[in-house]
Amino acid sequence: MTTARRTAIVTGAARGIGAAVAARLASDGFAVAVVDLDESACANVVGEIESAGGTARAVGLDVSDEEAVSAGIERIANELGEPTVLVNNAGVIRDNLLFKMTTSDWDTVLNVHLRGAFLMSRAVQAYQSKAKWGRIVNLSSVSALGNRGQANYSAAKAGVQGFTKTLALELGRFNVTVNAIAPGFIATDMTAETARRVGMEFEAFKEAAASQIPVGRVGEPDDIAHVVSFYVSDGAGFVSGQVLYVAGGPKD
Ligand SMILES: NC(=O)c1ccc[n+]([C@@H]2O[C@H](COP(=O)([O-])OP(=O)(O)OC[C@H]3O[C@@H](n4cnc5c(N)ncnc54)[C@H](O)[C@@H]3O)[C@@H](O)[C@H]2O)c1
Repeated sequence: MTTARRTAIVTGAARGIGAAVAARLASDGFAVAVVDLDESACANVVGEIESAGGTARAVGLDVSDEEAVSAGIERIANELGEPTVLVNNAGVIRDNLLFKMTTSDWDTVLNVHLRGAFLMSRAVQAYQSKAKWGRIVNLSSVSALGNRGQANYSAAKAGVQGFTKTLALELGRFNVTVNAIAPGFIATDMTAETARRVGMEFEAFKEAAASQIPVGRVGEPDDIAHVVSFYVSDGAGFVSGQVLYVAGGPKD
């Protein structure tokens, strides 16, 4: 099977890191399902991919909704081709110190990151094991190492790392690799939202972050898309169960 005939799914792809990943995989030759909560919000990303000569479809679904996931993946398989690449990128933050964190904010974050990655991966692995080839890339975060105000998010992102390693063990026999990326500060709506929450202008917030980063700048969505492209490439078939920190410097 050639890359040109393969179908990739990118969740949370209407904007930010997911949008950059979708565009990159399309330029790498994949037909890309641009998945996000609101199908119409994916139109710009799909339009940009198509104007660049690629193939993409917008698919609206909530990754934490089991029925929506099965129906959406079936639709992708019928309309674009059976998916063998999955990038679990959809994410939300609901930051607060433990004593102020609501049960609902805990559940929302765990549901989107962990239940979402579980439901999507379980559905896509059926096509991957049949094709005897596949790639799953999960978005973790440096917050997996602990981050004040993010008990829910850091628990979810640490969970994503364990999930990644276990799937790598289970799916390797089907020639499916499973890896994670743990980004540091990437300039997106998510980090802009954090700046608003702490009462800072986004530019000043980014400068403050950059001053703590060894390469002297914050990350951009394309920094992550590049790593996804590597993990998904045929040449990376012997790389599995890994977590790559993409943070402009070392992380423990
Ligand atoms: N930006 C950063 O600094 C950073 C750092 C580390 C990890 N990450 C992770 O990278 C991923 C992308 O982050 P981003 O900065 O591009 O965020 P973003 O907020 O810009 O985009 C996230 C997208 O996910 C979608 N989404 C949310 N819940 C969903 C659901 N239930 N079903 C489907 N789609 C859903 C949103 O609608 C949005 O389009 C997330 O998993 C995030 O946790 C981001």
